[in-house]
Amino acid sequence: MLRIDIHLTDDDLAKALRRDVAEGLTAHPKALPPKWFYDERGSELFERITRLPEYYPTRAERAILDRHAPDIARATGADTLVELGAGSGEKTRLLLDALRAAGTLRRYVPVDVSGDFLAGAAAGIADAYPGLAVHAVVADFERHLHLLPAGGRRTVAVLGSTIGNLTPRERAGFLRDVHGTLAGGDTLLLGVDLVKDPRRLVAAYDDAAGVTAEFNRNVLRVVARELDADVDPDAFDHVALWDPGAEWIEMRLRSRRAARVRVGALGLTADFAAGEELRTEISAKFRREGIAAELRAAGFTPAEGWTDPAGDFAVLVAAA
Ligand code: SAH
Ligand code: AVI
Repeated sequence: MLRIDIHLTDDDLAKALRRDVAEGLTAHPKALPPKWFYDERGSELFERITRLPEYYPTRAERAILDRHAPDIARATGADTLVELGAGSGEKTRLLLDALRAAGTLRRYVPVDVSGDFLAGAAAGIADAYPGLAVHAVVADFERHLHLLPAGGRRTVAVLGSTIGNLTPRERAGFLRDVHGTLAGGDTLLLGVDLVKDPRRLVAAYDDAAGVTAEFNRNVLRVVARELDADVDPDAFDHVALWDPGAEWIEMRLRSRRAARVRVGALGLTADFAAGEELRTEISAKFRREGIAAELRAAGFTPAEGWTDPAGDFAVLVAAA
């Protein structure tokens, strides 16, 4: 049983992209939000990243779910799994299996901005789980939480450390908003990447095969195609840096030479100096006590948590 709700039309996306590009390319320093990586090609590049030898987070989180999905099913008692930023939903199958084995599972609500990719992933899950109500929602989890289907005993999953791609201020607002949509008995299931040796962190965001570099440049391909911009993605170098104060990885694109970019759809011209950088993503890394404090500040009660054997990644359950 598959249903797809679309709260983000092509028109909404175009408007939001125009606004972010107009702001981001005239800001100092220049910056674009990471959600614009994920057109169909960007989502596929992210899937390739998850299989890279250097990119440990997906494997570490899968190891936790492999081992502890039954504990998560017990801790949440959920009949509805809402997944924000669902992507391919591959790891999610471990949770669906455990909730089904526990006898509670009724509904899966994957939510993502990447509409076509989401539709394909949701159809795959509906096929694999006959009897499960799959209610996919194309939406922006920073704007449309109030439009998600209500009812049931829900667990809202934000896996893959996607929460780390929000700034601390956005993250606080997002957690408060998620809390505001939940009822007593509902839970949050959060996957977070943990602070570790910066060499491993930087390698995870600057892989030898150059897949992350292509993913990073993809945001410029999206801007070029959608907003008729004459930007050449290949004229930018991929940069991944660890910021030890903020405890996040920052991805940037560095212009190799001075360049004037004309964004036709906006009538905007943005000048890049040689070596000038555009920030495209932060990926915050967490400490257990820090994220527990953030959850409490948003109104949650942290309940249980698990890490992989190497202690690279954590999955946490918090009560609403
Ligand atoms: N949860 C998956 C995918 C992580 S990639 C995993 O753990 O592997 C991040 C996903 O979040 C992408 O699919 C992207 O399209 C989606 N995403 C990013 N920003 C979003 C937003 N504001 N609203 C909804 N989805 C978003
Ligand atoms: C989706 N998100 C949590 C990924 C991350 O690790 O921050 C996106 C990513 N960026 C570069 N590699 C992967």
